[in-house]
Amino acid sequence: ENRPRSGGKKVILAEPRGFCAGVHRAIEIVERALEIHGPPVYVRKQIVHNEHVVRRLEERGARFVDSETEVPDGAVCIFSAHGVSPQVRGNAARRHLTVIDATCPLVAKVHQEARRFARDERTLILVGHADHEEIEGTFGEAPDRTIIVQDADEARRVHLPPGVPAAYLTQTTLSVDDTAEIVSILEERFPELTGPGSEDICYASQNRQNAVKAIAKRSDLVLVVGSANSSNTIRMVEVARAAGSQAHLLPDADRLDPGWLDGVGTVGLSAGASAPEVLVDEVIERLGDLGFTDIETEATASETVVFKLPSGLQRTSTNGT
Ligand code: F3S
Repeated sequence: ENRPRSGGKKVILAEPRGFCAGVHRAIEIVERALEIHGPPVYVRKQIVHNEHVVRRLEERGARFVDSETEVPDGAVCIFSAHGVSPQVRGNAARRHLTVIDATCPLVAKVHQEARRFARDERTLILVGHADHEEIEGTFGEAPDRTIIVQDADEARRVHLPPGVPAAYLTQTTLSVDDTAEIVSILEERFPELTGPGSEDICYASQNRQNAVKAIAKRSDLVLVVGSANSSNTIRMVEVARAAGSQAHLLPDADRLDPGWLDGVGTVGLSAGASAPEVLVDEVIERLGDLGFTDIETEATASETVVFKLPSGLQRTSTNGT
C-alpha cells in the first residue's frame, strides 16, 4: 500500500490500471512452460508488449523470436497474447513444434467471429492498426475477403465489393470513442453492415480508458506507464489528452523527465494492461522525491475477470492461482 504523506503535491492513481486477465495468463503460461519443459522455451514475439516483462522471462530461460520459422524443429513454442494467423499455426505444425497458445481468449473470440463471417462469405472490415500483431493474426483468418480500416478517414473512403454482404470486427485495444466514430461512419455508408455479437474492445481496455479519463479531468499531467509498442497504453495517453490533460507514455521511472512537472500540481498516474505494478511503484517513488507525496486513488470499476490456463499447464494443487 502507498502511504500518503500530507503537505505535498498530489498524485491520483487510476483504478483499474496495469495487468489485465489476458496478460496475467500469458505470463503465467511462459512461467509454467519453463517449469514443465525446462529452458529454453521459445516464445514467438513479445509475450506481451512490455520490455520489463520480456527481460524477466528471458532471465529465466525464455527465448523470444520474431518468427516460428526460427524455432528449432520439435521445440516448445509459445504464441503471444496477441494471437497468430492460421498460416503461423501451419508453419509450426510443419516444424513439429510443441505449441502452447497464450492468445488472450478475448482475441481468440475475434478470430472466431472472423471465421464465422468468412464462412458466411461476407466481406470483412477489420478496424485496427495494420502493423499490429493482433491485426496481422486476425487478418490472416480470411486475407482474401478482409479490408483493414485504421481511422475515420479510411472509413469514409473504403470501397467494398458490390453485391457482397459485409461485416466489421475491431482490434481489442482500440479507443472506445474513436471506434464508435469509425463504426458510425461505416454503418451510415453501409446500412446492411453486420457487427460482432458483442463489443470486440475488451473489458480491460474499456475500464482503463474510463479510469484514465476520470483522473485526466482532475490532473495537470497524466503519466501512463507502459512500453511504446503497447497499443492499449498508447490509446490511454490519447484518451487523457482528449480529456484535456497533458499526457505522456512512460516506459519506467528512469525515463520520467522532471521538466514535465514544471507548474504541475496534480499528476494522474495509470499503467497499460501489460505494465507490471512494480514499475508503477517505482514511478510513485520518483514522484515522491520530486515533492508529489499526497497520493490518492480514484476507482471507476473493479475487475474480477480471471482466465484459466490451458489444460496441460494448470496446477493441480492450487486451483490455478
Ligand atoms: Fe486480452 Fe484485453 Fe488484455 S484483449 S490481453 S484482456 S488488453
